[in-house]
Amino acid sequence: MKIISHKREMQQMAKQLLSSGKTIGFVPTMGYLHEGHLTLAREAKRNNDIVVMSIFVNPLQFGPGEDYEAYPRDQKRDELLAEAAGVDLLFIPSVADMYDAEMSTKMTVVKRNNALCGNDRPGHFDGVVTVLAKLFHIVMPDKAYFGLKDAQQFAIVSGMVADYDFPVQLVPLETVRDSSGLAISSRNVYLSDREKEQAPSIYKSLLLAKNKIENGATNIGEIKSVVTDYLKCHTDATVDYVDILCYPELAPLEKVQGRVIIALAVKFSKARLIDNIILDV
Ligand code: PAF
Repeated sequence: MKIISHKREMQQMAKQLLSSGKTIGFVPTMGYLHEGHLTLAREAKRNNDIVVMSIFVNPLQFGPGEDYEAYPRDQKRDELLAEAAGVDLLFIPSVADMYDAEMSTKMTVVKRNNALCGNDRPGHFDGVVTVLAKLFHIVMPDKAYFGLKDAQQFAIVSGMVADYDFPVQLVPLETVRDSSGLAISSRNVYLSDREKEQAPSIYKSLLLAKNKIENGATNIGEIKSVVTDYLKCHTDATVDYVDILCYPELAPLEKVQGRVIIALAVKFSKARLIDNIILDV
């Protein structure tokens, strides 16, 4: 595995690979790798000649008071894990290299962001699409891999790729969970022992909603209350939101029908965790 620290070197390498007929699979990450990222890398390895993974904690997608400085980082460990998962090129640029001059244009998300995490994190998805537009130009992937834990991110990035005709195929993969059902996330390290015991209730609350829907429930308010009450009863976390929307448009629904996402965010003392289930009803 080769480590590349400069965007121009990465772009040069991508051009050479593409002109020699190789396909590039890309896994963008913010590092502190876990099984979710490694699953994406292994899938990329199965379907492309070369796997590029980026590690870049993108300051643009963190708001004031969010955990940009404290975001967990461990490059040595990430290098070992990425190599074992089959990554060929690990791209780790600095902030100065990625954003080397004051930008004269701005990317603003205008759809699919006024819901779920977009409500609580103004500007977050503008930062995500900005960095991904840059990364797609630098890495020039044929396919890019995303986990559906961040289903809103996937919906918004799909919109950007369609709007601007990025020549990349986005590949969504199911959320990776531990044996308790907890969605794997870099932020799980912030959980206290007591919170770790409670956190599996997040997925259980979603399964409860899924079960209700599979048994014919269609009233959105009622299903949301069931999820919220379960979370309040089984965790000390504050419920940021529970919502049921159509997917990927993320628009409100009159009742549960079609392709829907049941999504939630909860705040434990130091970790804000999100999870969701997408259902075809
Ligand atoms: O999902 C993430 O880790 C980030 O939002 C991404 C896609 C790497 C962009 O910074």
